[in-house]
Amino acid sequence: MRPSASLLSIYFYALLSSGTSSSGDDRRWLVALVDLVELDYVDHCEQRATATWNELIGSSKGLSTKLERDKAFGIFSRQQTSEVKRGLTGYTLASNDDVLRRKVKLLLQPGDTLLETEQWIRLVTFGDTALHRLRFATNYDCGNNRNCTLRELQSSLARQQDEEKLMSMKKSWEQNLPNMNEYLEQILPLLRNASKENNYDTVEEYWDFLVEYEGAILKARELWDNIKPLYIKLHKYVSLRLKGADAVGKPLPVHLLKSLNGDDWSNIIESLLPQHPAVYQKVHANLQLKDLGGINAFKTAVNLIQELGLGELEADLWTDSIFNSTCPPILLDWCKPNKVRVVSCKDVSFVNYVEAHEAAMKIKYKEIAALHSNNTYILREAPRYSATFEAIPGFFSLLALNPHALSRTGLFPLDIFSYNANHHRLVLQLITALRDLPKLNFYLAADEWRLKVLMGSIPYSKIASSWREFRKDFSLLETSDVDLLGDPYILFNKPFIGKFMGLILKYQIYHSFAEELISDESDLVQYVSENNERISDTMMQGFGRVWPEMVNDLLATRENGLEYTGLTDYYRLLDDYLDKQLDPPKDASDDYVEPITEPIPEENEIIEFSEVNTEPTVKKGGTHEDLLSNVIDTGFNDLLSKLDAETSTVGVLEIKNPVHSGDQSKDTKEASYNTYWWIGIAVALAIIIILIAIIARKRHNHRKQLERQRRENSHA
Ligand SMILES: *[C@@H]1O[C@H](CO)[C@@H](O)[C@H](O)[C@H]1NC(C)=O
Ligand SMILES: *[C@@H]1O[C@H](CO)[C@@H](O)[C@H](O)[C@H]1NC(C)=O
Ligand SMILES: *[C@@H]1O[C@H](CO)[C@@H](O)[C@H](O)[C@H]1NC(C)=O
Ligand SMILES: *[C@@H]1O[C@H](CO)[C@@H](O)[C@H](O)[C@H]1NC(C)=O
Repeated sequence: MRPSASLLSIYFYALLSSGTSSSGDDRRWLVALVDLVELDYVDHCEQRATATWNELIGSSKGLSTKLERDKAFGIFSRQQTSEVKRGLTGYTLASNDDVLRRKVKLLLQPGDTLLETEQWIRLVTFGDTALHRLRFATNYDCGNNRNCTLRELQSSLARQQDEEKLMSMKKSWEQNLPNMNEYLEQILPLLRNASKENNYDTVEEYWDFLVEYEGAILKARELWDNIKPLYIKLHKYVSLRLKGADAVGKPLPVHLLKSLNGDDWSNIIESLLPQHPAVYQKVHANLQLKDLGGINAFKTAVNLIQELGLGELEADLWTDSIFNSTCPPILLDWCKPNKVRVVSCKDVSFVNYVEAHEAAMKIKYKEIAALHSNNTYILREAPRYSATFEAIPGFFSLLALNPHALSRTGLFPLDIFSYNANHHRLVLQLITALRDLPKLNFYLAADEWRLKVLMGSIPYSKIASSWREFRKDFSLLETSDVDLLGDPYILFNKPFIGKFMGLILKYQIYHSFAEELISDESDLVQYVSENNERISDTMMQGFGRVWPEMVNDLLATRENGLEYTGLTDYYRLLDDYLDKQLDPPKDASDDYVEPITEPIPEENEIIEFSEVNTEPTVKKGGTHEDLLSNVIDTGFNDLLSKLDAETSTVGVLEIKNPVHSGDQSKDTKEASYNTYWWIGIAVALAIIIILIAIIARKRHNHRKQLERQRRENSHA
């Protein structure tokens, strides 16, 4: 990069010294200046990315080099801003010179890097140090009297059932968070100064400017008002299932949601499944069986990207990335076309599968933006928060859970899906809702609370505990005073509002394609691939235009901007289901149709087990059969956790069951005699469980039949 930069500076100074000042030359002069500034930015980006990478992989000097680079970046960025400002004096940009105008604007108002040097250094030191500590601490409590790492904490949290242990896990995480007083006194107020440096009076206006949407926070409030009823219903349903009818409507402690700060409730899905959770259990089991975590999840995502006709990802990604660290995935960008790496985890789960899809699509987004000739550094890496950059990858992850995509990936066969399509859709909606609705709420809560604190509308004595209070009212969650300090957006004073709007827009994109489909059964993925120019055109633009201007083209509508209806339409089935659960109609008939011919179990398939896992929770009364199956159920789980602590119930059985497995020979060879003994017991128990399930199923069907007869009689 250096040689070309110096070449350009020669060109630049030649122009400068030639002394001519016609307006064409003025423009050329400005363009050369902007090019030069951008090249220097690329240099900085490269060095920062390398330093960040070394920090992420735990190199010995990682953190100190990263701090150095990040500090230098602020100083550099301030300098460049004044260079461009000087370059502009005496020159007015032509009104039709859009691209140059855009570049100049982005360079003149780079956001937080305009802070005075001491303040910028304070900000990055706080954030970098805090994230480093969270990432590399080994004193987390995993509930088994042993200190553990963040990755182990994440997976233990997902599996732990004991309330006390969940609580102490969360506490151990909180001990590694930075100091709340320091944050409130030294870091958060920097936002006021950053606003001033960028010529805004209030932080709210500054954030509107960073997300490039006028009245963004106001709009978000309006959108949320219309989504809140669904959130409340989901919350009530979760309370009902986790704690019973008395808890409905009261704040839920986040550790019961197996979450550290309540922004994602996915870990409790198994407690919430409706009566026929086949699609969840089958997909979950197949994800384990096919080991679709880590690099495999990314490879599956790339297959889908190719199906959409958007091409592959750069090959270097696979060799240079790390897939056995922590989730959610972190993308690292060297700001050169096509040098992006990812740090992700290898754990297999629904959420990680979805997040791998989003991350892969974000990389694709960057690649497509970079390929487009006009996208120089500042138009790719603008210090702005674009909702389209969140929404398109989010939309893509929704496509990954589309029935046709699930079928092609071998996760759930289409013909079985079609048999109870709406019921299966409902289950999938529940899965995505547990991730997206709490996130929407958290994003807005965090932004609103920060604005409130900054406006001084909370009495000083109450500030320290005000986050907890705010979450209780706004989110109906019981959190701690400090748990938001685990999020990088909080640590670096970034607004969530762009992510909030991205989540809204993601469902609008989905809706815009889905409503053009001829029938609900058509292949949405194929349809999107045939009409992918809406998406690829948007991605090509990068930050060349502000994102709200692109929304209409992206959605192919005349509607103006963001609407909550995309989201509420998407969750219609879930909404109905929640209504019925919270206020059961007297004549509750189940629209699930039992398959006429039981599908022939595929290799390793264990439909019966899934029934057992859920039936006991549905059954009422305390017959000895229920007791027995519960006892077996828990004993069985203990056994399974002995077999393999890493994977969850359904998956383990499928993977470790040597009776059916043909391609697992390596595993079984390595298994000890002890394991065989346990497997023997497992098979015996499994047979007992199947028998019980069949009996329970018969009783259940019989009861249903009786009810049906009774209904028919009463109608007659
Ligand atoms: C974990 O580490 C902390 C100190 O880092 C120590 O106080 C605590 O006793 C350890 N816990 C266990 C279970 O080893
Ligand atoms: C904001 O800037 C003012 C003036 O430069 C300074 O006195 C104040 O300490 C800054 N705020 C913070 C939180 O550093
Ligand atoms: C992750 O994988 C790399 C090789 O790809 C290996 O060197 C490293 O030890 C692994 N780390 C962990 C924590 O398993
Ligand atoms: C941007 O690209 C288009 C075609 O791709 C070209 O016509 C236009 O001149 C370019 N603008 C700039 C400023 O490079």
